[in-house]
Amino acid sequence: MNFLELAKSRQSCRSYDKGRYVEPEKIDAILEAARLSPSACNAQPYSLWVCTGSGALKIAEATGGMGMNKFAKDAPVMIVISEAPYNATAKIGAKVKHNDYRSIDIGILSAYITAEAESQGLGSCIIGWFDNAKICEAIGRDVTVRLVISIGYAKDEVKREKRRKPLSELVSFVTGDDKNV
Ligand SMILES: Cc1cc2nc3c(=O)[nH]c(=O)nc-3n(C[C@H](O)[C@H](O)[C@H](O)COP(=O)(O)O)c2cc1C
Repeated sequence: MNFLELAKSRQSCRSYDKGRYVEPEKIDAILEAARLSPSACNAQPYSLWVCTGSGALKIAEATGGMGMNKFAKDAPVMIVISEAPYNATAKIGAKVKHNDYRSIDIGILSAYITAEAESQGLGSCIIGWFDNAKICEAIGRDVTVRLVISIGYAKDEVKREKRRKPLSELVSFVTGDDKNV
């Protein structure tokens, strides 16, 4: 699959095959993709927690407030992404430019993780609805969690048509006398 095919095929998976475990080498590939993800000043200001078994279930429960994310309890793997400090250059850049690069970096990281999961034939879903305190309890560390990603083999998954804004709503072109457009 080229990248555009991968981007069309990846979708938020909300139905997992509970009894089918994910091969460790597939998790390794996903983590390597995560490691290669770009970040402001190459700071990689995040930590990842790979949770399986009862650990995954605890994380799933932490995403379940107000009846949300019921599907998560069937995912065999839950990756928690917490925010870590910037390095010195990213810290200065963020302060001078009033930009929170850490959240941006974590967004890119999540895109890499979910794209690699798709290329490994796995379903995934980025989850932003969670209880920070419950996750801290589950992982035994006091951290600022930014996202959780559920991963597993999809069950009875039908590929949905992508619903996205048209490019005309998203993109403007600023042209000169070049020949690119
Ligand atoms: C930052 C972020 C937070 C999200 N949080 C949740 C969530 O808590 N529960 C959920 O089911 N989907 C969640 N999603 C998935 C989005 O709903 C989904 O990506 C979007 O509707 C586009 O659909 P697609 O991923 O199937 O293409 C989240 C996605 C992002 C990027």
